[in-house]
Parts: sequence; structure tokens; C-alpha cells
Amino acid sequence: MLVAGNWKMNLDLAAARQLTSGVVSAVGTPKGTGVALCPPFVDLDATYSLLHGTGIRLGAQNMHEQDSGAFTGEISAPMLRAVGCHYVILGHSERRQLFDETNESVNKKALQALSHRLVPIVCVGESLEQRDADRHNMVVEEQVRAGLANLEVSSSSEIVVAYEPVWAIGTGRTATPDQVQDMHGHIRSLLQDIFNEAIGSGIDILYGGSVKPGNAAELFERPNVDGGLIGGAALNAEDFAAIVRCAEEAA
Ligand code: PGA
Repeated sequence: MLVAGNWKMNLDLAAARQLTSGVVSAVGTPKGTGVALCPPFVDLDATYSLLHGTGIRLGAQNMHEQDSGAFTGEISAPMLRAVGCHYVILGHSERRQLFDETNESVNKKALQALSHRLVPIVCVGESLEQRDADRHNMVVEEQVRAGLANLEVSSSSEIVVAYEPVWAIGTGRTATPDQVQDMHGHIRSLLQDIFNEAIGSGIDILYGGSVKPGNAAELFERPNVDGGLIGGAALNAEDFAAIVRCAEEAA
């Protein structure tokens, strides 16, 4: 199980410090579940100082596929490692929709993340139009196969997949537990096919999209739902900690 908070483009340095301290005291020492915070780039260093030694890990929200060079405005995997990142979110639907990320760019970044021992949290998910046209399984299969192509891993803890239906993100409209269970089962078989039975069975598949303290338990108790990628509710320490407790109980 893993519960990761995606802060998106929220919180300046002072606010990031305040929320991190709040999360550290509200969550305590994580028991039986991984916990991670993914703040904006400029808050990573300060957040790491507060997380170090707590058992809560640090993640970034994106990165560039090269080590260094003339890529104004970009951040590389070695830079993320140097400030203490363990995870990096890749291919979030907001990046796909607003910043033209493709399955191919997500794949290049995932390869780069692994080669620098960062754990990519690879996001997949269909739009409302695709779900209504009953194309969600096909769309997600394409995203999973292309995004994870040629990745070599020796353990299931080296990769995380997050299923986030676009129509459920920030909308207050959560996918139903049955919809989530179906898609996670589909992703599980894809992972077993792409890697092998043992590795594919162990990779954490997170659900994301309007997860709140009130709906986390019914989602996390479903098979193949190994935690959550939390947006809005991660901006409140008590709400985030309550979601972590749901994961601890489901673990
Ligand atoms: P949300 O965001 O929890 O605010 O819906 C989830 C995400 O985008 O990762």
C-alpha cells in the first residue's frame, strides 16, 4: 500500500513547511503502508528536511528525460535524487492534457527515472468521452503498454502505477468501487503480462480522483487497489492522515 499526496501547483515555501509539519504529526510513523508527499520543485528541499527520518518519503511531480543540458526551465532526475526524492509522478493527466505529454515522453521519462533509481508513479486514465464510448480498457491498456515499454525491473517496488480517470480528478466525482476494481484488475493482468507473474502481482496500483477520508476505505478494501494518489485532500494534514489510516487498516 502507498498513499501519495500530489500537491500540484499549490503552496509556497512557508505553506509547504507548515503542511509538511502538520502531516508528520498527524500521520506519525507509517505502519504497513508507504506514505509520500509530492510538493512543487521549489519546496522539495525544505520538505525533505522535515521528512527525513520520519518514514514519509518525498516525490516530485514531473521531470525531464535528460540528465542535464540546454533545457531551460526543466529539472532532471539527478537533481531530484540530490534533494532526497524517492518517487517521481510521470504522465499525470494534467501534464498530458495541458503540456502535451504523450505515452512516448512518459516512457522516456520512466526509463530515465529507473536509471537514476527513482521510482516512477506512472499515471494512466481515460477521459469521460472515452469512458462513455466504452473505450476505457483499450485506452488504459495503450497507456500502460507504451508508458512501461522496455522497462527493466528486478523488483515490484521499482515502479508504481496510478489509475486516475480524468473525469474523477478534482471534480468531486469518484469512480465507483466496482469501476475501480474492474480497471485495477485489468491493469494487474497487463503488468503480469509485461513483466512477469511475480513482479506484475507486486506492483502497487494506486487509485486517484477525488479520494477523501469518507470514500478511501471502500476503495482501498477492493482487490488490486493498493493505495491512492491524493490531490485536493492532500492539502489538509488531517484529511491526508485519515486517508493514510484507511490504507493502514486495509493493509
Ligand atoms: P484529486 O486529484 O484528489 O484532487 O481529484 C488527484 C490527482 O490529480 O492526482
